[in-house]
Amino acid sequence: MSSVALRVPPRVIPSSLRPLAHSPRRHRRILAPSEARATLFRGEAFVLEGALRDLSAHGLGLVTAEISPGWDEDITTLELKLPGRSPLFLSGSTRHVSTARVSGSLYGVQLRHALGRDAAAWFAYVDELLHPQTQPAFDADRLWNLYSRSNYVRVMSKTDREPRGWRGAFATATAKLANAPLVSCTVAWPGEERLEAAVTMLKPFASTWLGCHLARQPDEGPVGKRLLLRQLVTRALEYPERDAQFAWLLSWVHRDARFSAHLFGDFARLPAHKPGDAAVVPFRIMRGRVTTPNAPRKRWLRLGTATSEEQEHLLRRLAATKPRAYLEAHDLVPARFDLSATREAWSKAGLSREREVLVVRRGTSVVAAAIVEAAEPGVHLAGWLDAVRIVDFDSPDDDARVALLNAARAWYKARGRDGFVYFLESNNLAHALAARLEDQGEADAVVVAASLSAPLIAWLHSITT
Ligand SMILES: CC(C)(COP(=O)(O)OP(=O)(O)OC[C@H]1O[C@@H](n2cnc3c(N)ncnc32)[C@H](O)[C@@H]1OP(=O)(O)O)[C@@H](O)C(=O)NCCC(=O)NCCS
Repeated sequence: MSSVALRVPPRVIPSSLRPLAHSPRRHRRILAPSEARATLFRGEAFVLEGALRDLSAHGLGLVTAEISPGWDEDITTLELKLPGRSPLFLSGSTRHVSTARVSGSLYGVQLRHALGRDAAAWFAYVDELLHPQTQPAFDADRLWNLYSRSNYVRVMSKTDREPRGWRGAFATATAKLANAPLVSCTVAWPGEERLEAAVTMLKPFASTWLGCHLARQPDEGPVGKRLLLRQLVTRALEYPERDAQFAWLLSWVHRDARFSAHLFGDFARLPAHKPGDAAVVPFRIMRGRVTTPNAPRKRWLRLGTATSEEQEHLLRRLAATKPRAYLEAHDLVPARFDLSATREAWSKAGLSREREVLVVRRGTSVVAAAIVEAAEPGVHLAGWLDAVRIVDFDSPDDDARVALLNAARAWYKARGRDGFVYFLESNNLAHALAARLEDQGEADAVVVAASLSAPLIAWLHSITT
């Protein structure tokens, strides 16, 4: 096929650029600038050339002036000529071709992104079109200023003052995360001299993106809060779609956080979802400090680490008591329990991430186990990735739990942390208070399947419009 001169009917590509109305389509589309063009190749052989009609991060519509000679699935390379940019080379294949509503042919092309500079440039281009008001943000000082003014740090740490060392750790982590697009993404609504609002998405488990660090300036800024939250959070929720491993969206929502609780918690509770696609697991945040002296431990309890059989038993206990979505999203399943994929991705960015199982035995039998996890300081502002969960092997035993929390305190101290959080998933507070942890209130672990991210964005639009 030879190159074709293009005639595009004006009604196909209006001159103004505006996002298409939001629909639960998985990848939101936008009309393309009229000068944007693409050439498609099979191997190195030229196939066709045309103008982009619309595009998303994962595909594009291409209009040629000629009537299509037929279906062609084998296109492997696209050269994209975008206004004001160097040409980009991406991989893809045509998914459909039609002659309806255009004078030539309209090809639907699915992009398959190989990691690399051109894919990153494509995503940046799509973001500029879809999200012109927001930007990636990695300026730690401006972000800290926002989190500090919005009271985020104090709300999350439940202290009157910003805990010592947090700001420095945040700055170091932010610099590392700036080069780790498969671990984290922070986007902000920039103002004249400050950030009006920001949100971070983080990947703490193999196929899970966690929504965290949402904050906006406490005063009335130049933009209405509903519009600001809608645009910013839409961009954040669309981001994980770029990760081929993306399977779950996770949010640990403090019950005091009205907006997040309505956005994530109330959405997950909607009856319309397929069983297994969403879960809400309530918990209580208990904070432990490494400087607090340990509570006395019963002498007949022995601490240790879990054998592989004990770890298997632990996973069976979890499978019997927790929703599958929750277990999958937190990598509390045999195939991913060691966090190896996450550790590898994080360590490439110079970030630490770990998990271990501590057990307490009476005689030779395990009474209970603590799953202790840690992440690079400063990555989660409130330290909620330095988290402990306790699983009873037998009937609940407060003495065993206190012993495990003492052991956890030593575990975090050995890693230079000032504290940790205990995700207490029962109403029994007595052992946590006995272990001298502070009650920081109720929260929900909210999990939704990746297939629900478009309906979640539609829900976001409905609650903020
Ligand atoms: C989190 C934060 C950005 C939310 O912004 P906010 O302006 O306080 O959000 P609001 O709770 O007022 O909700 C914004 C809009 O969402 C919708 N909404 C929120 N909760 C709703 C509910 N329960 N029912 C219906 N609509 C709701 C409404 O449209 C609301 O606008 P309205 O008040 O004009 O009706 C802001 O509170 C903040 O920066 N807090 C400090 C940091 C923090 O605690 N972050 C949370 C971490 S989980």
